[in-house]
Amino acid sequence: MSQFELTRTLPEDATGAALRADVLHGLTRTPKILPPKWFYDARGSELFEEITRLDEYYPTRAEREILIARAPMIAAATRASTLVELGSGSSDKTRHLLDALPGLHSYVPVDVSGSALTGAAEALLGERPDLRIHALIADFTAGLVLPDTPGPRLVVFLGGTVGNLLPDERSAFLTSVRALLAPGDALLLGTDLVKDEAVLVRAYDDEAGVTAEFNKNVLSVINRELGADFDPADFGHVALWNAEQEWIEMRLRARRALTAKIPELDLVVHFAAGEEVRTEVSAKFRQDGVRSELAAAGMELTHWWTDEANRFALSLATAV
Ligand code: AVJ
Repeated sequence: MSQFELTRTLPEDATGAALRADVLHGLTRTPKILPPKWFYDARGSELFEEITRLDEYYPTRAEREILIARAPMIAAATRASTLVELGSGSSDKTRHLLDALPGLHSYVPVDVSGSALTGAAEALLGERPDLRIHALIADFTAGLVLPDTPGPRLVVFLGGTVGNLLPDERSAFLTSVRALLAPGDALLLGTDLVKDEAVLVRAYDDEAGVTAEFNKNVLSVINRELGADFDPADFGHVALWNAEQEWIEMRLRARRALTAKIPELDLVVHFAAGEEVRTEVSAKFRQDGVRSELAAAGMELTHWWTDEANRFALSLATAV
């Protein structure tokens, strides 16, 4: 019996069309912006994995600490038969959950990267030959249709990636997640927490310059996919704490006045010396904010778990 199925709900060229639209919109407005999802080609995903191993970048380790400590409680509270993971990537941290859920029937990893899904599934099936894996190539921020697997379902969204969505996108996303939940289902959400500014900034501006390279990778993606001629060396890496919004912003700052051609868009983009393009926001949360954002989307926060040092939180929520 085949235990692995891969379903594509994204048209082959959806990614290309979305990239063109985002770049055209983002680089012709003031101030310039680019959405963070375009960091993650093969090189960008590799750089992100490298970031998670940096001394300065604590969220991955903090979240893993919580998962290891709380997996039995998550299992007891949810009794999940199906685990749905949004933005599953390598499914690395998810193992702690999979191993704690004895009655698990199906694992549904959802990612825009087919290669990440196949790789993760292969590794998992070696260890859990009993598990049905129904991988979905899909954009989890759009209307997601889940396979017909047994409930209760536990939908997990780890890594603090919800913080990369802007407030409007975040509420739309949470509302669409709520729509996936039947009575008895649950959402497990990872959020990085507000903390000392210096600690936060260091996590996004590491000594070795890995995050700077990750940030500049979006220019290489635009060069390759849209035929552009950006020189990443023309840009400096900026990470700053926006105290009003309570988010980290990453930007690329032009070191000199420059012009870039983007042939696929028939576009020429000008940067003044020192001009910046915002490439990511990474929002940091407090329990009250998480509770009220969940409530606004029709969910109730039932559990709040943090690591010992209070850096990161996992929230469990149910539909109301
Ligand atoms: C994708 C949310 C886990 O915002 O912390 C890491 C991406 N950006 N360093 C984050 C990221 C810069 C990361 N997450």
